[in-house]
Amino acid sequence: MFPFAELNLVEVEITSRCQASCPMCARNIHGGPVNPNLKLSDWTLEDFKRIFSQELCAQIKTVRFCGSFGDPIINQDLLEMCQHLTDTNPNLAVRLHTNGSARPTEWWQTFAQALPKDHLITFGIDGLADTHSLHRIGTDYNKILENAQAFISAGGKAEWVFIKFQHNEHQVSQAQKLAAQYGFVSFTVKNSIRFNGEPYPVVDKNSNILYNINPPSDNVVKFVDRDLLKGFKQWFEEVKVDCHVLKNKEIYIDANQHMYPCCWIASAPYLYHDPADILYSYKQRATEEFYQVLDSLGGFDSIDLKTRSVKEVIEMSLWQSVWQTHWNNKILVCAKNCGNSELTKPKEQVILKVDV
Ligand SMILES: C[S@@+](CC[C@H](N)C(=O)[O-])C[C@H]1O[C@@H](n2cnc3c(N)ncnc32)[C@H](O)[C@@H]1O
Ligand code: SF4
Ligand code: SF4
Repeated sequence: MFPFAELNLVEVEITSRCQASCPMCARNIHGGPVNPNLKLSDWTLEDFKRIFSQELCAQIKTVRFCGSFGDPIINQDLLEMCQHLTDTNPNLAVRLHTNGSARPTEWWQTFAQALPKDHLITFGIDGLADTHSLHRIGTDYNKILENAQAFISAGGKAEWVFIKFQHNEHQVSQAQKLAAQYGFVSFTVKNSIRFNGEPYPVVDKNSNILYNINPPSDNVVKFVDRDLLKGFKQWFEEVKVDCHVLKNKEIYIDANQHMYPCCWIASAPYLYHDPADILYSYKQRATEEFYQVLDSLGGFDSIDLKTRSVKEVIEMSLWQSVWQTHWNNKILVCAKNCGNSELTKPKEQVILKVDV
């Protein structure tokens, strides 16, 4: 791994809470029951200030608020956390991903002022009034646009990211026009890699199927489906891992304040695996491998930022050495997300990005 002096970007999950239940999000099962392995945690402002010390804020260029299980705007102290970053290092860049549906418009105006000059807030708006909440369940399309408008009119920079499905594909150009009218700085269309080649059922809290969602008709990403799994052995032998965060000099800190290289590794202990899933045995293997990795690092205590600083964790000789061993051995999470193979890779999700 790279030394602390090269660290560029920190991604943080300041809460694992969210008011929404998007059906492909790991916090719930197909939009219905809550993931039984989910651990609800929030950072306090004190946690944030301790972790984002003067030393860390002086070293890094970017803080990205995102995560795997929660929405950053649900954390009560987000405004103060951003103000802390701005006060500590005004040259920091802030990026934040949100469903945008919580908080009054006044909050969004104050938020724009608390952020450093270099910021970009990504609103996930997957359609228009009649389709958006088929995927963003529990969010309100009109409220999101009101919030975005308040934020933008107070000087905030926002982008609209539209995940394209069969049910909203006819609305892309209309959404792009709206993004320009509202003053979003860019409009991005993404494919979702989270299908397995079959319709994806959306269920209610009692697991009754409500409807299916499908990829768009011109989908370009390759899904891990039954056919691809037939060639798994050969794929696994050939794949080479090219670690994304090693190249970009990033780290990830989850809602429990444990530090990992990336969100893919971090989410492993909390994911729910459905025995009926065609990928069940692979997902179980990935979780087992997570605990082997954790053991090789010295357990949760060694990556716990309640008792250690980011610099101390990076400078641990185990942190420096063990990741390369796991990339060479090709643990599944790394092979899947950073392998040089035909399997879907996150970068292939973006199919259109325009300044508006
Ligand atoms: C778990 S969310 C956390 C941040 C925030 N709650 C949000 O939704 O933007 C992490 C990322 O997953 C993305 N995401 C959610 N559902 C997705 C899907 N079906 N396919 C691809 N990405 C998805 C979100 O847009 C977001 O960028
Ligand atoms: S808004 Fe984000 S965190 Fe919340 S359910 Fe949707 S994808 Fe998950
Ligand atoms: S999945 Fe593995 S290889 Fe990819 S960024 Fe994370 S640690 Fe690096």
